[in-house]
Amino acid sequence: MATAKSLLSFDNDNTVDETLFARIAQDMEQQGFSILPAALPEKLTNSLHLHQRAMDESMFVDAGIGRGDNFIKNDFVRTDEICWINGESEAGRDWLNWTGALQRYLNRRLFLGLFSFESHFAHYRPGDYYKRHYDAFKGQANRVLSLVVYLNPGWTEQDNGELVLYRDDNDREGIKVVPLMGTIAVFLSEEFPHEVLPARRDRYSIAGWFRINGSVTDRVDPPL
Ligand code: OGA
Ligand code: MN
Repeated sequence: MATAKSLLSFDNDNTVDETLFARIAQDMEQQGFSILPAALPEKLTNSLHLHQRAMDESMFVDAGIGRGDNFIKNDFVRTDEICWINGESEAGRDWLNWTGALQRYLNRRLFLGLFSFESHFAHYRPGDYYKRHYDAFKGQANRVLSLVVYLNPGWTEQDNGELVLYRDDNDREGIKVVPLMGTIAVFLSEEFPHEVLPARRDRYSIAGWFRINGSVTDRVDPPL
């Protein structure tokens, strides 16, 4: 008979670490965010890193704000380049398997009703930034949970480029997250304004959002 662990495992030795998910769930319950250095499974981290570095520049497009018809490119707010992850590559599929397992775990533990997930690779060149923003706006009940992971081996504090997570609108100091390889940041999308400070070197991350189903009878709300 399959054990709980083997039910959750996927491809060869790439088993899902429930201890990590439990830690994230507990942090979310207690503080609404979780910042965990060197936490993303190593094999997954390495394959995402290699895949991102091998990707052709032409696959990245300027990031903007808003979705669909509301998309605007706004250099005042952000200057990074992105590539949506759709599961066409093996690394992308492994990533979506892992985030799927996290989604199911968080739904079980925290009753979040997370329904879908969207994510993209992001590349910030030296000097690129993403000014203070929210990933979701109150009342729009759409993006619920933000997840960011970092793919930069050997990143040091001198390289700057931190993610700064603010506790609320009045917080000017924030919590700085160094974008070092394997670090995971998770936070409630409507609760925490945050920004990406300019870095001195190329900075790679994956940003993703778990969403609840925002479809209403007269309008479908697809993931992208
Ligand atoms: C975002 C974002 C943070 C980061 O893409 O919305 O806030 O550290 N990214 O890359
Ligand atoms: Mn953001």
